[in-house]
Amino acid sequence: MKKYLAYIRGHHQILGFEEFQAALEAEEVVYNNTKIDDQISVFTTKDNPLPAARRCAFLHSLLGLIITGSIQENKLEIQTLESNFSIEKNSSFCVRAKRIGKKEIKQKSTEIERKLGEYILDRYDGYDLRVDFKNPDNRFIVIIIKNEFYLGKELWSKDRKQYHSREPSNRPNFRPGSMKTDFARALVNLSCVRKGEIFLDPFCGSGGILIEASHLGANCIGIDIDYNAVVSSMKNLRAFGESFYTILLCDSRHMTIKNAHAIATDPPYSIQSSTHGKQVVDLILEFLEEAETILLPGRRLVFSSPSKLHPENLIENTKFKIISQIDTRIHKSLTRRILVVK
Ligand SMILES: C[S@@+](CC[C@H](N)C(=O)[O-])C[C@H]1O[C@@H](n2cnc3c(N)ncnc32)[C@H](O)[C@@H]1O
Repeated sequence: MKKYLAYIRGHHQILGFEEFQAALEAEEVVYNNTKIDDQISVFTTKDNPLPAARRCAFLHSLLGLIITGSIQENKLEIQTLESNFSIEKNSSFCVRAKRIGKKEIKQKSTEIERKLGEYILDRYDGYDLRVDFKNPDNRFIVIIIKNEFYLGKELWSKDRKQYHSREPSNRPNFRPGSMKTDFARALVNLSCVRKGEIFLDPFCGSGGILIEASHLGANCIGIDIDYNAVVSSMKNLRAFGESFYTILLCDSRHMTIKNAHAIATDPPYSIQSSTHGKQVVDLILEFLEEAETILLPGRRLVFSSPSKLHPENLIENTKFKIISQIDTRIHKSLTRRILVVK
């Protein structure tokens, strides 16, 4: 069993934790959470959690946890959890400290970084290690919460540029009402879709969610009632080099599709994207009834809508069961409620 630390930074921590847990499930990683705090989750597993981390939009980094300890009266108390730093002879390293929450200790982050750096140098005396902050072979991160610290080796960290290149405004075909790329990716992850499976977005708009599912190797089906949205989706998917997709011009209340492994979607709210004359609530309900006949048993459907619509009440009228409900504040007048149902 190895110990890992998942670090989630930013305003959407609950979404981040839920996304990572769903990604672990999709990648068939069996794990045990030992601690969940503000922005960290410590877990143990025999499996490799890296493929799950790599697919997440709201995970900042994944660390292989090495040591934890406490900082008492400005003195680092180190307890060895797992002594292996996986550091090679004649290599370079750096230690970076991040504080989470209120500062409860006086010691400066730079001092903690220096002390832990000295600890590593001392422990690996004779290894010819060099300290390099710009381009180290090994990046050790220490996370400080209250008066505890967690030191781990960074195994992966999010490449923001990659997501930025697929933002709605950077796609060849822009349509208003498109979801930001990290949210689109999180919805796909929450659906637990796996490589090679059939993924459906029945309100696909300009294809943002489909691009993310396709990036993970799913076979995508997109549906939209609007001809221009269908054309826009096709152009965008082609531009990003995706090859396994079908886009259909049809009404998501009457789809001729069977056996989807996962569904994730962002139905219209009638503000920026049209419901084509239907009441939003009626449209979602009719789509949910249709989805019951399409989704394979035990698999997930994920959809978002404004919290003020109370989409959770609609689920009571269907055969689905809610497995999680996540609220994310988008701006002053919109809190997006994401429902994951089975
Ligand atoms: C919020 S947009 C989806 C945006 C998409 N997630 C994106 O990132 O581009 C909702 C889409 O639902 C489509 N739509 C509305 N009613 C529909 C229906 N009955 N069947 C299928 N699509 C519908 C609209 O044309 C619109 O493109």
